[in-house]
Amino acid sequence: MINIAILGYGAVGSGLAELIKAKGKTWQLQIAVKYVVDIRDVSSQLENTATYTTNFDTILADDDVTIVVEAIGGTESAYNLVKQALLKGKHVCTSNKELVTTYGAELLQIASNTQAKFMFEASVGGGTPVIQPMYRTLQIDQIIEVAGILNGTTNYILSTMSTTTKTYETILQDVQQRNYAEKNPWEDVGGFDAARKLAILLSLATGNQLNFRDIHTEGINNITRDDFSFAHEFGFTIKPLVWGYINQNGIYAISAPILVHRKHPLANVCNAFNAAMIKTASTGNLMFYGEGAGKTPTATAIMADIFRICSATTHGLTWSTNTAKIQPFDDFSCCKLVQVAGKNRAFITAHETEHATAETLKNVPVAKMFRIYDYD
Ligand code: HSE
Repeated sequence: MINIAILGYGAVGSGLAELIKAKGKTWQLQIAVKYVVDIRDVSSQLENTATYTTNFDTILADDDVTIVVEAIGGTESAYNLVKQALLKGKHVCTSNKELVTTYGAELLQIASNTQAKFMFEASVGGGTPVIQPMYRTLQIDQIIEVAGILNGTTNYILSTMSTTTKTYETILQDVQQRNYAEKNPWEDVGGFDAARKLAILLSLATGNQLNFRDIHTEGINNITRDDFSFAHEFGFTIKPLVWGYINQNGIYAISAPILVHRKHPLANVCNAFNAAMIKTASTGNLMFYGEGAGKTPTATAIMADIFRICSATTHGLTWSTNTAKIQPFDDFSCCKLVQVAGKNRAFITAHETEHATAETLKNVPVAKMFRIYDYD
């Protein structure tokens, strides 16, 4: 029997308890929720009210609890509690992307020192497995590019904009009702949530901590329906993309609305779905697709981490406390679709850096410019 403690009984924490209750009997591994910690009195929502506590020290002192699931969110108390659990040698699973991007390197280091595992599959792509397949690939291959749609809210907004006449505000309200959006929806709309997830993937790919604030980020708020018509004319659609590549000069990264050719698989990742494409030196492109958020998919991803922890063959995730520098955005290179102001004209630039493009367009009255995701 594996005893776990769940910290935080919101959507993710309660989703996990419900999943264990509904499916636990069919699993080879027997999982028991020994404690649920929350500052609110959630005892009436629990199957066994005696599992409810506000005292985290009880959990730290209980050697029967080997796995702590952090479902509080944010970094304030989550960081302290996770750190204490890892220092005690308890394994920790979390879906908390803020915690991983801010303290990932330190927490992984502590976990490695105490032979604990710090796992965060659910922090990127919700129910879509990305971290584990990527980590396994890394054991034998080199990751040279990561691209994808890692924010369900903005994907839902842009997908709906491209196929209906609903207003931006109505679509945002729709998505908020579905519980995908962050408390502050600007985190989604501004591209920051996706940038955090890209930072996690690139930290894993490079073995060093990346600061998500170094990633060039643009929101979807300037995208209009006319932009979709314009993009469609040239065979593209607009997706809220994260895109990072690694070459001999360093790491390049962006989180922004970007044109994707309509024949590309990422163009068909619609509504709140997520997808990640990982390009490796030897295998080429791998693609992972699935539910990017939601109570049950996220709980299932956490459960998968719990199973991995219990498997003797699983190695802990790792990256160092060294900071990986992202190259200046002026050196980011891609093709662009340029709409020329005042003339019924548009063209696609060569594959060149932002700086070179600016030079090329010096004498062109640019009405709007879109970056194109190019792939091979
Ligand atoms: N706000 C996030 C999204 C939730 O829309 O994808 C999942 O991380």
